[in-house]
Amino acid sequence: MDWGMRNRLARMFPGGENGNAVMLAVDHGYFMGPTHHLEDARATIAPLLPYADAVALTRGILRTSVPSTSATPVMLRVSGGATVLKEDLSHETITTAMRDAARLNVCGVALSVFVGAPHEHESLVNLSKLVDEGEEAGIPVMAITAVGKELEKRDARYLALACRVSAELGAHLVKTYYCDGFEKVVEGCPVPLVVAGGPKLDSDRAALELAHSAIAKGAHGIDMGRNIWQSDHPVAMLKALRAIVHEKATVAEAMDVLGSAKGRAPAAASARA
Ligand code: R5P
Repeated sequence: MDWGMRNRLARMFPGGENGNAVMLAVDHGYFMGPTHHLEDARATIAPLLPYADAVALTRGILRTSVPSTSATPVMLRVSGGATVLKEDLSHETITTAMRDAARLNVCGVALSVFVGAPHEHESLVNLSKLVDEGEEAGIPVMAITAVGKELEKRDARYLALACRVSAELGAHLVKTYYCDGFEKVVEGCPVPLVVAGGPKLDSDRAALELAHSAIAKGAHGIDMGRNIWQSDHPVAMLKALRAIVHEKATVAEAMDVLGSAKGRAPAAASARA
């Protein structure tokens, strides 16, 4: 792996090669439109940015809603082409060229792969081509094992297959879902895994439990959205998640972090400093 690729990965995974990352996912609008609490992306993202090891978003939201002075590494979503108005979300293509990703100084590019879906073949070919371009540019590629509207697909057998296929085709990282038997997904995937949160859970505690279980079973971090910015206390949630991902906090300890951070205004100093 060339220096540029290693450097970009290290910026997102501050603990080094075996480190973990807290990524903030705000890319939902690319197929869902103005998602609840992300209508004004700039306002939602601003207080959270200092506490994220990376922010996952599209070039449109990056250019319009993130200050160019931001020090937070960018994981750029480069696939799209379908919306929730259509039944088949798998009909995606690469929507952003690698040269634009390089121009935006990103630390990684991400695309969805739809294993078992009508456009499985296209999404896997997209991944392979993107890896070729990423290797050339020194930009890591994250495959997202998307399930479209079929949330029930999030079981260990399916996700292990989707993650392994993504790694075999050259993905440098894989984002997937937490599930029962998650250790099987980790075992079969030779590259680092980060987990999405999925739709908002019933409580902040449930989201912290999900993150804790994922890390305990071998995930290298989270790439979470709705369970952070749809929480009543997004900054406090992000701080509590950081405690789990970076400090091996228990759920009880993370709940304490959440509780004490709730009352406070977000600190001005960067958590990344
Ligand atoms: C889908 O819109 C994206 O891949 C999201 O980034 C991913 O699902 C993570 O966000 P959440 O935690 O809200 O599921």
